[in-house]
Amino acid sequence: RDNNIAIAIDGPAAAGKSTVAKLVAKELAYIYIDTGAMYRSLTLKALNEHVSLENEVELAALLSSTSIELRQSEAGQKIYLDNRDVTRQVRSLEVTNNVSYVAKHASVRKEMVKRQQALTERRGVVMDGRDIGTHVIPDAEVKIFLHATVEERAKRRYEENVSKGFASDLEALKKEIEQRDLIDTKRESAPLIKADDAIEIDTTSLSIDDVADRILGEVTRVLKE
Ligand code: CDP
Ligand code: CDP
Repeated sequence: RDNNIAIAIDGPAAAGKSTVAKLVAKELAYIYIDTGAMYRSLTLKALNEHVSLENEVELAALLSSTSIELRQSEAGQKIYLDNRDVTRQVRSLEVTNNVSYVAKHASVRKEMVKRQQALTERRGVVMDGRDIGTHVIPDAEVKIFLHATVEERAKRRYEENVSKGFASDLEALKKEIEQRDLIDTKRESAPLIKADDAIEIDTTSLSIDDVADRILGEVTRVLKE
């Protein structure tokens, strides 16, 4: 088989998807695609332009006239919204607290999935999100579903904030994660769920390298087939 496959990584917030996806992509010299950043970019624009997050028609119209690009740079991947670097802004608390309301609309998802699929035409990709194994790349050669207890996930975000010098509140983080997970799993359109053929990894007591090694082991196995 040719060496370029698609790896789909899904799971709830702070399960370690993007950290591990980047490592795996680096190891395999694949491209990494952060689909969450795309939903976050649309959310940022909707907030800036005062578009109601409940208004599916307006959000879909806004998306159709919006350019969202992932660009590789020396400093890692950057996200561009209408040609402006918004890599930092899309991780803001305001965007984080609102993104799940934007991502629940079927017509927004339909367009996002179309754009994401266009990015996977050439294989050799690691893509992370919520619906990658179930909807975006249902024929991905390797599908992974990462999860961890909400306490552990909140602790990870807390430590991440502290290491960056930001003030942080563990209980508030836990609430934010629980709220987002609830909306993501309960929505009608492509909810967060493990694909039947995904490998489930509970990362609660695993290191980043442990998780990356397990995924790379699975990739090696598939490539030998
Ligand atoms: O990094 P973190 O797990 O906190 O979030 P993210 O991956 O950036 O995703 C932010 C939000 O976008 C999620 O909570 C979902 O509401 C939405 N999302 C989605 O619906 N489908 C995807 N494929 C990716 C993200
Ligand atoms: O993308 P997602 O929201 O699933 O998680 P992330 O942004 O990769 O954040 C996970 C955080 O937990 C990062 O600060 C990692 O360093 C840390 N972590 C991890 O990703 N995996 C582990 N097994 C242990 C810690």
